[in-house]
Formats: sequence, C-alpha cells, structure tokens
Amino acid sequence: MKRESRQIWIVIGVFLLWAVQLGCMSVERRQRLAVIFFDDPPISKVKVGVDGDDSEGEDPVLQLIYKSSHGPYMQKKCDICHESENYSLSLASRLRLPKDLICTQCHDPEMMFKGAYRHGPANAGHCFKCHSPHRSKLPRLLLASGYDLCGRCHTEATVKGMDQHRAENGDDCYSCHNPHAADNPKLLR
Ligand code: HEC
Ligand code: HEC
Ligand code: HEC
Ligand code: HEC
Ligand code: HEC
Repeated sequence: MKRESRQIWIVIGVFLLWAVQLGCMSVERRQRLAVIFFDDPPISKVKVGVDGDDSEGEDPVLQLIYKSSHGPYMQKKCDICHESENYSLSLASRLRLPKDLICTQCHDPEMMFKGAYRHGPANAGHCFKCHSPHRSKLPRLLLASGYDLCGRCHTEATVKGMDQHRAENGDDCYSCHNPHAADNPKLLR
C-alpha cells in the first residue's frame, strides 16, 4: 500500500515538473517542439515579419520545417477566414463562413478549374480535405502526398481495382490526374 502511494506521488511530481517546464518555454520553442511531433502545424502566435512579409523575422528552424506557407496566414490576416483576429484558440478557430466557402473567397473555381470534368471534392469547395489553410511540411500546402493523399478516399473498398491500378501505375497519382479538373474523362491530364 505504502509503496504504491509513493509511486503515485513520484509520477505526479514528474508530471508537475514537466508541466511547469512546458509552461515556461517560449511560444516559439513549444511550437518548434510540437511541429517535430505532429504533422498538422500547431497554432500559436506565429512569429512573422511585418505585414506582407512572410520571410523576414520568421524563425529559421520553422522555415526549414515548412515547405509552404499561405500568404493570408503568414500576414496574420486571420480574420479573413476566422471571426476574430484574436489569437486565442477558441476564438480563432471559429470560421466566418461555412468551411466550403472559405477558400473560394479568393480562389475563384471558375478561374481555377479549367476543363469539362471537375473533381468532386474540389468542385464542392472541400479544399481543406487536401490543403492546409495555414502551412505545411509539403509543397502547395498539401496535407499529404501521392497515394497518402488520394488514398484518403480512393481505396480498394471504394474503387474496385485500385490496388491493381496502383501496382501498374505507381503512387504518383497527380502526374496523370489533375486533382482539380481536366478536359479529359477520369481527370486525365
Ligand atoms: C484572402 C485571400 C485568400 C483566401 C481566403 C485563401 N487563399 Fe489561398 N492563396 C492566396 C494567395 C494570395 C496565394 C498566393 C500566395 C501564397 O502562396 O501565399 C494563395 C495560394 C494558395 C495555394 C498555393 C500555395 C503554393 O505554395 O503554391 C494554395 C494551395 C491555397 N492558396 C489554398 C487555399 C485554401 C485551401 C484556402 C481555404 C482554406 C485558401 N487558399 C484561401 C489567397 C487566399
Ligand atoms: C485562408 C483562411 C484562413 C486563414 C487566413 C487562417 N485560418 Fe485558421 N483555419 C482555417 C480553416 C478552414 C480551418 C479549419 C481547418 C479544418 O478543420 O480542416 C482553420 C482552423 C484553425 C484553428 C483550429 C485548429 C486547427 O488547426 O484545425 C485555429 C486555432 C486557427 N485556424 C487559427 C488561425 C490563426 C491564429 C490564423 C492567423 C495567424 C489563422 N487561423 C488564419 C482557415 C484560415
Ligand atoms: C475527399 C475525398 C477525395 C480525395 C482526397 C480524392 N478524391 Fe478523387 N474522387 C472523390 C469522389 C467523391 C469522386 C467521385 C465524384 C467525381 O467524379 O468527382 C472522385 C473521383 C475521382 C476520379 C474519377 C473521375 C471520373 O471521371 O470518374 C479520379 C480519377 C480521381 N477521383 C482521382 C483522385 C486523385 C488523383 C486524388 C489525389 C490527388 C483524389 N482523387 C483524391 C473523392 C476524393
Ligand atoms: C483532392 C485533393 C485536392 C482538393 C480537394 C483541392 N486540391 Fe488544390 N491541389 C491538390 C494537389 C495534389 C495539388 C498539387 C498539384 C501538383 O503539384 O501537380 C494542388 C495544387 C493547388 C494549387 C497550386 C496551383 C495549382 O493550381 O496547381 C492551388 C492554388 C490549389 N491547389 C488550390 C485549391 C483550392 C482553392 C481548392 C478548393 C476550391 C483545392 N485546391 C482543392 C489537391 C487538391
Ligand atoms: C500513369 C498514369 C496514371 C497514374 C500514375 C495513376 N493513374 Fe489513375 N488512371 C489512369 C488512367 C489512364 C485511368 C483511366 C483508365 C483506367 O480506369 O484504368 C485512370 C483511372 C483512375 C480512376 C477512375 C477509376 C474508375 O473506375 O472510374 C481513379 C479513381 C484513379 N485513376 C485514381 C488514381 C490514384 C488514386 C492514383 C495514385 C495511386 C492514380 N490513379 C495513378 C492513369 C493513371
């Protein structure tokens, strides 16, 4: 009994020490730690340069980690998409418009999507199924690449013959298919 309760106190003590340490870390250090462990960029007061400048003043480590960053995010124009320019988690995450109308404020599908055949999720404004609105470790703000991205929806279970299609053509899906729209059936480029 006694031994067990001592162990519990040790665990609680270690946890408290860790929590205090995390609390004392600067926002940048916490963010840097977090991006190493999680794929989706964590949100905090991002250190960026003055308006319109998305390179100077940016933490050099973060610059190495991210392959792409979104203009309006880097310029801290959060309120274009969110209800508040306040950086508090609960306020910032509330969107100003329904999710499927957020991106088309600036990216006009009529201008972007050339071609008679349009891809369902892109046409529906579900850009967030493939792109991060903020920044990404991959180019083009992508959430994943190749089959890791397309396979979120196209698996053997949803498209019969997908396994064989992959075996024959490889996982570089968008070298042949346009992810948004195309003039040819099956979104072929
Ligand atoms: C306020 C206008 C605005 C809104 C709203 C907006 N974008 Fe953008 N977006 C831009 C501008 C400007 C660029 C080009 C400069 C840049 O890459 O930041 C861009 C570029 C991009 C790129 C290309 C990035 C690259 O590295 O080539 C992607 C992908 C993108 N936006 C996705 C989105 C998605 C997804 C949404 C909705 C969550 C969205 N955008 C909403 C203005 C906007
Ligand atoms: C181009 C539009 C756009 C801009 C600019 C933007 N956001 Fe977002 N943000 C979104 C969308 C869309 C989501 C929801 C993403 C999802 O659920 O897939 C989101 C989600 C979030 C969340 C919820 C947690 C998460 O990552 O899912 C937070 C917090 C947040 N944004 C903070 C910010 C802050 C702070 C800024 C400014 C520095 C900002 N956003 C700028 C579109 C934007
Ligand atoms: C969010 C889910 C989702 C993701 C992610 C997704 N797709 Fe699709 N895709 C669909 C749906 C739904 C359809 C069927 C509706 C349609 O024809 O657009 C479809 C249809 C297609 C078609 C067949 C179009 C036709 O004419 O029959 C191709 C090819 C395709 N997707 C390729 C891709 C590629 C390549 C990727 C990765 C860049 C991808 N998809 C990612 C949902 C998704
Ligand atoms: C099914 C996944 C998917 C969806 C949905 C999607 N995209 Fe993309 N997008 C991609 C991929 C993959 C690329 C990169 C293509 C490449 O590198 O060849 C890309 C590239 C882009 C680019 C870079 C320039 C270009 O045209 O190649 C922009 C801007 C963009 N997307 C905006 C959007 C917007 C806005 C929406 C919603 C209206 C959207 N995307 C929906 C997968 C998607
Ligand atoms: C070398 C070019 C090439 C590559 C790479 C490729 N495809 Fe295809 N894809 C095609 C062609 C051609 C068709 C139409 C003929 C067919 O069904 O085989 C097609 C058809 C499709 C269809 C429609 C199937 C149907 O039954 O309507 C989907 C979905 C699809 N591909 C998804 C993907 C995904 C996901 C990847 C990546 C893992 C991928 N493709 C990689 C050339 C390619």
